[in-house]
Amino acid sequence: MRSLTSLWRSLTLLLALMLAGHALAEVPHRSAKPAYAEEQTILQTEKDTPESGFLSTASGKVHVDRHYLGQYGSTEGTVILQRGGNTWRLLRNGPIAMAAGFLLLVTPLLLLGFYLGVGPVRTTEQPAGRRLERFNRWQRWVHWATAYSFLALALTGLIILFGKNVLLPWMGHGIFYWVAMISKVIHNFVGPLFILCSIIMFVTFVRNNIFRRWDWQWIKQGGGLVSHKHIPAGYFNAGEKLWFWGGVVLLGLIMSVTGLVLDFVNFGQTRYVQQIANYLHLIGATLYMVAAMGHIYIGTVGTPGAYQAMKDGTVDANWAKAHHELWYDEITHTTPPTSPVPQRRRHE
Ligand code: HEM
Repeated sequence: MRSLTSLWRSLTLLLALMLAGHALAEVPHRSAKPAYAEEQTILQTEKDTPESGFLSTASGKVHVDRHYLGQYGSTEGTVILQRGGNTWRLLRNGPIAMAAGFLLLVTPLLLLGFYLGVGPVRTTEQPAGRRLERFNRWQRWVHWATAYSFLALALTGLIILFGKNVLLPWMGHGIFYWVAMISKVIHNFVGPLFILCSIIMFVTFVRNNIFRRWDWQWIKQGGGLVSHKHIPAGYFNAGEKLWFWGGVVLLGLIMSVTGLVLDFVNFGQTRYVQQIANYLHLIGATLYMVAAMGHIYIGTVGTPGAYQAMKDGTVDANWAKAHHELWYDEITHTTPPTSPVPQRRRHE
């Protein structure tokens, strides 16, 4: 009995030692503050790999990057461990990924709720049967080139961000290896293409996106999205202009600058700069994708008849009168509408 008790005690002690050893070896410790965990990692690395020169200040070599910007020159070649790395990893994989995932899942649900609860903004009059040209071939081409490159970036970006947690468990390493690598290459190459498309988009559409006096009425009444009133608008309404300036221009700039910083690592930017670029890229990407969902909703099921404008470039005359009254007045007083094209009515 005595020997059994002492065996039991020895086993418990062994187990406790094993657990403690495991906990101590686990650096960075899960519950440790990021900075402390980094220090622990650094100390352990220094202990295990004493490299000549790092202990002498005269050597110019540093173990720990404490000043982030400029201190060690642009290459950071002398820095063995960068303090910001672990903080970046914890923030990127933790709160930022959580917030992004939450917003990207909740937005389509809210849009579905809005569609079912409030419903689309329909044209009260029957289609006139006369089609008006709204977007020419060039404008549509620019729109779709930007839209497709955006979708490619959004999809591959999401695989880079969430793939390891979402796809890897059911695909396994063999397939996920290829999916992740192909996504990364597509993202890296489509990025610059998207920037080019966005610049052409800006030049093509900027003239019609200048804010006008009457846009304020549209904003004050929420575009009639809930009341289903048709608020007079010009060629583009204030909502479309907000999407242009806030999405295409502002978020486009944030995504382009941060994307280029991440893409071209050969210009001497430090790891700290890359980490900041990554935070901004992720925040910008989330907001851009959320706004794009709103844009896609309003341009398709939210406003029946609108999608046709980007598909074949024309809208029904009564649709134009209801949704863009000022533009309708302007063009019907100067340009006669195209001849009736009855077969197009089936698309309404
Ligand atoms: C506007 C559309 C864009 C969206 C929605 C988007 C989205 C994303 C997302 C979600 C990530 C993952 C970040 C992470 O996992 O930490 C990412 C990474 C990245 N993005 Fe973008 N991005 C866009 C545009 C661009 C552009 C225009 C460029 C380049 C010019 C670019 C270059 C990069 C690079 C280099 C990475 C890092 C890839 C890696 O981890 O190796 N992105 N993007």
